[in-house]
Amino acid sequence: MTPQVTLIYLNGEWIAPAEAKVSVMDRGFLFGDGVYEVIPVYSRKPFRLDEHLARLQHSLDGVALANPHSPAQWSALILKLATDAEWEDQSIYIQVTRGPMAVRNHAFPAVIQPTVMLMAEPLTTPPAVMIEKGIATVSTIDTRWSRCDLKTTSLLANCLLRQHAVALGCVETILFRDGLLTEGSASSIFVIKEGVLFAPPKDHRILPGITYDIVLELASTHGLPVIVRDISEAETRNADELWMASSTKEILPIATLDGKDIGVNLPVGADDTPFLSPSPPAGEGRGRGYNQRPSRWPIHSKMLAWYQTYKHEVMRHG
Ligand SMILES: Cc1ncc(COP(=O)(O)O)c(C=O)c1O
Repeated sequence: MTPQVTLIYLNGEWIAPAEAKVSVMDRGFLFGDGVYEVIPVYSRKPFRLDEHLARLQHSLDGVALANPHSPAQWSALILKLATDAEWEDQSIYIQVTRGPMAVRNHAFPAVIQPTVMLMAEPLTTPPAVMIEKGIATVSTIDTRWSRCDLKTTSLLANCLLRQHAVALGCVETILFRDGLLTEGSASSIFVIKEGVLFAPPKDHRILPGITYDIVLELASTHGLPVIVRDISEAETRNADELWMASSTKEILPIATLDGKDIGVNLPVGADDTPFLSPSPPAGEGRGRGYNQRPSRWPIHSKMLAWYQTYKHEVMRHG
């Protein structure tokens, strides 16, 4: 059975999900006027909390919404959830909207009463088969607005772009804007070419991913050359390896893009069908599957091993 959310924080109260109600006049409901964060928790320790709270502040500043809480207040709320929720590993969701208004009006109300909501969900890592086989992806034009650096709740474009992948039996949609790689509909994308890790710059075209930072830090620690610059669509399609990364998906190898194999290396094993969505087989990716045979994505295998070691030695300690 899928674990259920059992505890919600809403505007100063800790309540059961069935009791958590928001007005239909809330600007989050009517306009998607709000921002959010997703913070991974390992062994009940929120990971990179300061960075997540800084990104929340950046999103709030970007939509001209005053932060309703100090960092200390946010930390207290997040730590309570991390301690009280039933799972050791969690994904904590925070949402702040511009709150309710008396009459529907695009302009902000004179007095803002933000709606603040937090909840925890179990954090599950990708199944081993996804890591072993790589995932199938499709591409399309990035139809989102020009402030993709803000984590806003106006996610309709992201939802449509993600559904584009699902409808074609794929896991993620890779986005191109003006002929350049931006990111996935809910992930950061990296390119490997001739032993170098290429990453698109963190500007208004992409969300500044926390996993993006970790990947670049691990590359630097382990001597993998990194170049941060614009990446063309052709370079993306001709990559030796293509990776998708996020807090919840960790770092997954991409096997196909629009039905074409990624990478110049020979496929290994009898069954190299990429992993298709939905219904991943049960099982956990952590520590299994990614290093059992010569990899079609050798640099990904190294990065994932560095990431798993880092997770064990650092992330599980806060
Ligand atoms: C559009 C987009 N880019 C990148 C990411 C990865 O961010 P993070 O590594 O902080 O999970 C996400 C995560 O949800 C996302 O939605």
